[in-house]
Amino acid sequence: MTSPQAGFPRARPRRLRRTPSIRALVGETRLGTSDLIWPVFLRDGTDMSEPIASMPGVNRLSVDRVVLAAKRAVDLGIPAICLFPYTDPAVKTELCEEAWNPDNLTNRAIRAIKSAVPDIAVMTDIALDPYNANGHDGIVRDGEIVNDETVEALVRMALAQADSGADILGPSDMMDHRIGAMRDALEAKGHQHVTIMSYSAKYASAFYGPFRDAVGASGALKGDKATYQIDPGNGDEALRMIARDLAEGADMVMVKPGLAYLDICRRVKDRFGVPTFAYQVSGEYAMIRAAAQNGWIDGEKVMMESLLAFKRAGCDGILTYFAPDAARLLNGRA
Ligand code: PBG
Repeated sequence: MTSPQAGFPRARPRRLRRTPSIRALVGETRLGTSDLIWPVFLRDGTDMSEPIASMPGVNRLSVDRVVLAAKRAVDLGIPAICLFPYTDPAVKTELCEEAWNPDNLTNRAIRAIKSAVPDIAVMTDIALDPYNANGHDGIVRDGEIVNDETVEALVRMALAQADSGADILGPSDMMDHRIGAMRDALEAKGHQHVTIMSYSAKYASAFYGPFRDAVGASGALKGDKATYQIDPGNGDEALRMIARDLAEGADMVMVKPGLAYLDICRRVKDRFGVPTFAYQVSGEYAMIRAAAQNGWIDGEKVMMESLLAFKRAGCDGILTYFAPDAARLLNGRA
């Protein structure tokens, strides 16, 4: 609510903007390192760090290197890391069995990180796209993404990740009833403490392009994801998906992509008052990096401004590829 204001010149709003210290006193929004979740890409091998062309500054890391990244995150004050695997095309199948292999890349990385860096929260992605010969998040039968069979596969995947020690499961698939099915299975198998951050309001977005390169899914993908991800023009539908996922046992919810969907973030926070996160996705990252590399914008300033905007919109935290760079600045290190 805006309070009544005196007229000019009794009111001079610029008094509050005059010096850095006064601006600091009246600042409404704070960004801290504890607001950041760092998404990282995994690959096979040892001592490997492989650049991703469409995401300058982001690399696919072998498991030993991701352990070092997790240590760095803790040193920087970043509370969580989120794992995404680049899967060898040779193990991709129509039924996506590699997704729940206890020794797949993600599960090996979870165990390695939890044993070497127990203080960091390890988040995972639950969706079939990195393992799917079709590039889709669900199992495809006769050209259709079949819901219930996919949910069974996702539950297996969730249990394998929980068994490996994951702290936060991130279902990003947008199948119906996956949260309830996963929550019941986790309870039944003694994983009462594993949290779920549901990608509840996940839009069918073109901003995911560079990510699909990063996990090697873009070549495989046939068609688009519009039969399961939300139409970008819809806001009420996103709120219904959030309400449903909370009712099914999600602990935290996410809006994705981020910057183009800040109105959704605000509506979710105001309506539900639950831990609300946004994902500043690969395309958002790539646009800022590319413009900065061309000298068209100040990359650091735009990075910090975009992250602050998520906090202003009501988010409790942000998944962002900028996490280590932003944390370094927030810690006052160059
Ligand atoms: C997989 C998944 C995607 C992203 C996160 N998990 C891609 C997609 O849905 O096609 C996108 C992340 C990004 O673009 O940074 N289901």
